[in-house]
Amino acid sequence: MSSKKENIDNLQKKLGEVIGLERAAQKAVDELIAMKLLKSGSKSEAKEIQKEASTHEEKIQQVVDAFSKDENVKLDVNKVEESASETEEKATKIMKTYLGENPDTAEALEFLCLAEGGEVSHYEVLKTICENFDNKKALTTVRSILKEEQKHLSQCIDMAKSAVQ
Ligand SMILES: [Fe+2]
Repeated sequence: MSSKKENIDNLQKKLGEVIGLERAAQKAVDELIAMKLLKSGSKSEAKEIQKEASTHEEKIQQVVDAFSKDENVKLDVNKVEESASETEEKATKIMKTYLGENPDTAEALEFLCLAEGGEVSHYEVLKTICENFDNKKALTTVRSILKEEQKHLSQCIDMAKSAVQ
């Protein structure tokens, strides 16, 4: 069992991390398209995923807002933002390292699988952290985003498979 302070610290950090991942995911799709690594079908699917990532970012910002106004939690918005930029930066570096010098479509799609897998695990942990707080709306939001991330992951796996068929 974590203390109340630990729970709040965990919440701040993890909310920031998912925001950072959502931002990095949106940038990644733009970059992969600009590098011409996503072709027709996967390009439009990736754009759909990108749109949902932007909606997720907004919804999580609302959760941050609600927790910052909650007298029992008083989430520190600056700490969330710090965690978000740190994670965004790390994720962007990971993408560069993963793609290397001469990336092909299969590698680009596998990178998207990696990114979505990371999102799924972070939302799983965030859901568990949220269960320590009495905020049904936040928990419902996180659960519904988690479902969509699981869908994104299987979409990306299918795209990666079809690139090698
Ligand atoms: Fe996603």
